[in-house]
Amino acid sequence: MKITVVGAGAVGASCAEYIAIKNFASEVVLLDIKEGYAEGKAMDLMQTASLNGFDTTITGTTGDYSKTADSDIAVITLGIPRKPGMTREELIGINAGIVKTVASSLLEHSPNVILIVVSNPMDTMTYLVHKSTNLPKNKIIGMGGALDSARFKYRLAEALDAPISDIDGMVIGGHSDTGMVPLASQAARNSVKVSEFLTEDRLKQVVEDTKVGGATLTKLLGTSAWYAPGAAVSSLAQAIACDQRKMFPCSTLLDGEYGLSDICIGVPVLLGKNGIESIVDIPLSDTEKAKMQESAVGVRNTNGLLDV
Ligand code: 2OP
Repeated sequence: MKITVVGAGAVGASCAEYIAIKNFASEVVLLDIKEGYAEGKAMDLMQTASLNGFDTTITGTTGDYSKTADSDIAVITLGIPRKPGMTREELIGINAGIVKTVASSLLEHSPNVILIVVSNPMDTMTYLVHKSTNLPKNKIIGMGGALDSARFKYRLAEALDAPISDIDGMVIGGHSDTGMVPLASQAARNSVKVSEFLTEDRLKQVVEDTKVGGATLTKLLGTSAWYAPGAAVSSLAQAIACDQRKMFPCSTLLDGEYGLSDICIGVPVLLGKNGIESIVDIPLSDTEKAKMQESAVGVRNTNGLLDV
């Protein structure tokens, strides 16, 4: 199993590290455009192998896509991260050109690759990859909901003073500060709905804190987060590599599902060896359905800024 990670910044290097530590890939290639940067990160990561107990081989390259040839999975993290106060959507001007070029360069050497898109604004970048490549839609996966769901579970555990392993919760919709749809009506602590334990106001606060989870960290860190995004990517990659048929909310091209078409937005999917094996139709409350439609309006507005 060969996995390429394009972008050796904090997010990309975290993706590579967690993929290696989980030991399901034989090879990870880290690519960046900054001279020597990916090579250095790869060497530093390889020097953790004996300590962290993995056999994955991590190599780095400065811009040589031939080194990514025959990748099974490729992760696109390259692009500028947001600064405090910025929205993900404001990154489109620079990141769209980068993502289009990176996708094309990857496919030149790995025509059957499964792409995981991380660069922001992620839903629109995922849509851009569909519009600018001939890759089948099951092989283009936008990573956002898995990260947002992890933040949702963190906030629920905090509110419930519970171990995270007790919590189940999912976030669908756009990966944006205003467009996320945390499914509060279905979140549970060990199969008991969290609404049994939390007041409506406290649950609303959990939802609001989840939606701005990325912005909260960007304010604290001065740049976008990287540990949880990297961990989320590695979970998606593992589900694909190990054909787990595991359910994650991922941004994928819809063709009528959830009443939406010609848009990439976060919905529950099963991930396996073919990438997106299927889109899972789950019951939503009327409020959640309305929020999904609202979220789609925001994603379409950002898509409208693309010249595709
Ligand atoms: C985040 O929410 C980078 O969009 C990513 O942290």
